Amino acid sequence: MWYLSFRVHCSFLFSLTILSLFCLVTFYTFLWPTTDLEPQENISKFPKPPVDVSFWSVLCQENICDIKATKTLKLTNHASSITRQRIDELYQLVHRAQNDQIDLSNIKKSHYLDPTWTFEKFIEQKSKNDTNDTSEHDDSSDSDSEERKKPKLSFTNEEKTINEHDKKQLRYFIHHVLAKWKQQHLNDTIINLADLMHDTLAQDDPEKLNTTWFQFMKTVNNLRVYDTHSSQFKNLFKYLQYGKITKANEMSHGTQIKILLDLPNGFQGLLKPYRVPRNYQTPSDHFYFSDIERHYAEIAAFHVDKILGFNRVPPVIGRVLNITSDIREKATHKLARTFFISPANNTCFYGHCSYYCDIEHAVCGKPGDQLEGSVQVLLPESSEIVWEEITHPYRRSYRASRKAKWELNENYCYEYIMIDEYYHNRLLLDMMDLSAFDFIIGNLDRHHMMRISSFGNNTALLHLDHGRSFGRYDDDDLSILTPIRHCCFFRYKTFARLYRVYKQGFSKLVSNSLKTHEGLQMILIDEHLIAIDRRLEIIFAHLETCIKTYTVKGVMIDDGVD
Ligand SMILES: *[C@@H]1O[C@H](CO)[C@@H](O)[C@H](O)[C@H]1NC(C)=O
Ligand SMILES: *[C@@H]1O[C@H](CO)[C@@H](O)[C@H](O)[C@H]1NC(C)=O
Ligand SMILES: *[C@@H]1O[C@H](CO)[C@@H](O)[C@H](O)[C@H]1NC(C)=O
Ligand SMILES: *[C@@H]1O[C@H](CO)[C@@H](O)[C@H](O)[C@H]1NC(C)=O
Ligand SMILES: *[C@@H]1O[C@H](CO)[C@@H](O)[C@H](O)[C@H]1NC(C)=O
Ligand SMILES: *[C@@H]1O[C@H](CO)[C@@H](O)[C@H](O)[C@H]1NC(C)=O
Ligand SMILES: *[C@@H]1O[C@H](CO)[C@@H](O)[C@H](O)[C@H]1NC(C)=O
Ligand SMILES: *[C@@H]1O[C@H](CO)[C@@H](O)[C@H](O)[C@H]1NC(C)=O
Repeated sequence: MWYLSFRVHCSFLFSLTILSLFCLVTFYTFLWPTTDLEPQENISKFPKPPVDVSFWSVLCQENICDIKATKTLKLTNHASSITRQRIDELYQLVHRAQNDQIDLSNIKKSHYLDPTWTFEKFIEQKSKNDTNDTSEHDDSSDSDSEERKKPKLSFTNEEKTINEHDKKQLRYFIHHVLAKWKQQHLNDTIINLADLMHDTLAQDDPEKLNTTWFQFMKTVNNLRVYDTHSSQFKNLFKYLQYGKITKANEMSHGTQIKILLDLPNGFQGLLKPYRVPRNYQTPSDHFYFSDIERHYAEIAAFHVDKILGFNRVPPVIGRVLNITSDIREKATHKLARTFFISPANNTCFYGHCSYYCDIEHAVCGKPGDQLEGSVQVLLPESSEIVWEEITHPYRRSYRASRKAKWELNENYCYEYIMIDEYYHNRLLLDMMDLSAFDFIIGNLDRHHMMRISSFGNNTALLHLDHGRSFGRYDDDDLSILTPIRHCCFFRYKTFARLYRVYKQGFSKLVSNSLKTHEGLQMILIDEHLIAIDRRLEIIFAHLETCIKTYTVKGVMIDDGVD
């Protein structure tokens, strides 16, 4: 019995060993060819296009799919949700509201207004609340040191945020304040730069009074920087485009290369040279603050602003220069020293600035010494023409690791803008115009707002520095519209203009304007033209959302500014 059982065991074990040996051998023979084949495959495998990479092979190829997959240029972001019909309805609503404008006395009577609420009391209450707050962490690094003194009234923690009643009253207060501002400025005379400079020039430099430049200065006023119907406007472009360059100097305070050109008849132009082709898209891993400046973006921004009827971008036109005779031979010693001949025999220079001013990012003539660039008329700055540089309250942090306050606080407009007397005038709505404009051109780089303070209190913002706009056409950065989304205020006149342009076909107007007035070809490729149409609709969609929340009359404001 015992013997029998032993034999059964043995034969079982024996067959098990045979079986496992067999398995091992088969496994090995299967395994062998694959390990043998691998080295041969390793070159052919790597450059496979992403569509052909199978799910299994992805596991062993680090990042390669990711790198290659970005090739597809799909529109990642939002076609707007608003329909043509809805935009028409919106216009009707706004138009009707504008026609039965509430005047100052009606505002006071309105049932919205709490008669016991006053701005002064509110501010007093608020500063009391704030001084009680011991946990205040000073976040002043967010703002520039040169920033003007403003009421230091910050809500520092969540519980202290403004309540709904105060918000409503504050909105009403803003309407009231701007209606009053309109009354005070109804009779304002239009002031131009020529008048402001006349006396000083007559004394110091009377010959300048007899220049085409001075004629042009007569059309630069507190409301807009040019008059499209004037002969000066047409003349100006001749000088910018063909005027003989007598001196080329670097702009001292620039992050990227900019050259100041002395032109005939008193004009000066600001040259931004060609850096990237028209279909360049900012790499998605690049921040706005390291984005390279584009000369065609400057030109396109001018035309977009003109079509929108703001006329706040000083005129720009494209120009083909001879890098040798126009720049090198006219350059200051410092600039001239950065010129060299590239291995391809083109003339190049790199200048001095903080970004892209090195031999690896040189500006080169192509071919030989031909260089394309944008030339913008330079507006004067002197003791009579004083500029005001306002830190944009919605400026970005300009750091990869930090978010700005407005990105974290949905009540930012109430807590920082509406309570600040500095904005109790046309500046508030000028800022909304600017937000709409920047969104259309895709400009994330609006760190400051500029205006000429010598014009007095009724002075428009100037739209300057758009070299970093038109960076992407496949993406709409909605964060640029944050001022409009937060504050929900907008100018009647701007709305009417946006609508008119929308009805006439925005991109068509812009592309016609470029075709007829611009010498350089194809400033905006079709993808950008499609993008600006789409973005205009998105602005209407944002305004619709505001209007749904606060009513037409709660959003739209007439501050008398055209
Ligand atoms: C495959 O790659 C290895 C190193 O990773 C290399 O030594 C080998 O030569 C490559 N095979 C072929 C066929 O190039
Ligand atoms: C001040 O604080 C009180 C109590 O915390 C709050 O009810 C009130 O809304 C605050 N007032 C302002 C103006 O922030
Ligand atoms: C602020 O502090 C004072 C006294 O320290 C107190 O009487 C007052 O109620 C406090 N106000 C608020 C809003 O907390
Ligand atoms: C504006 O002019 C009108 C008449 O010309 C006058 O009645 C009104 O008081 C003026 N307004 C201001 C703010 O000067
Ligand atoms: C301006 O220049 C023209 C000729 O260029 C001359 O005839 C005219 O007298 C000058 N006017 C003044 C005010 O200097
Ligand atoms: C540019 O200017 C240089 C120097 O005056 C001249 O030699 C060259 O031919 C010019 N190039 C073109 C394309 O006009
Ligand atoms: C550049 O010019 C030099 C001298 O004129 C010539 O020898 C060389 O071949 C040229 N290089 C190119 C890339 O055209
Ligand atoms: C501008 O407005 C401020 C207050 O809002 C006023 O004190 C000042 O006199 C005004 N300046 C001009 C030139 O109207």
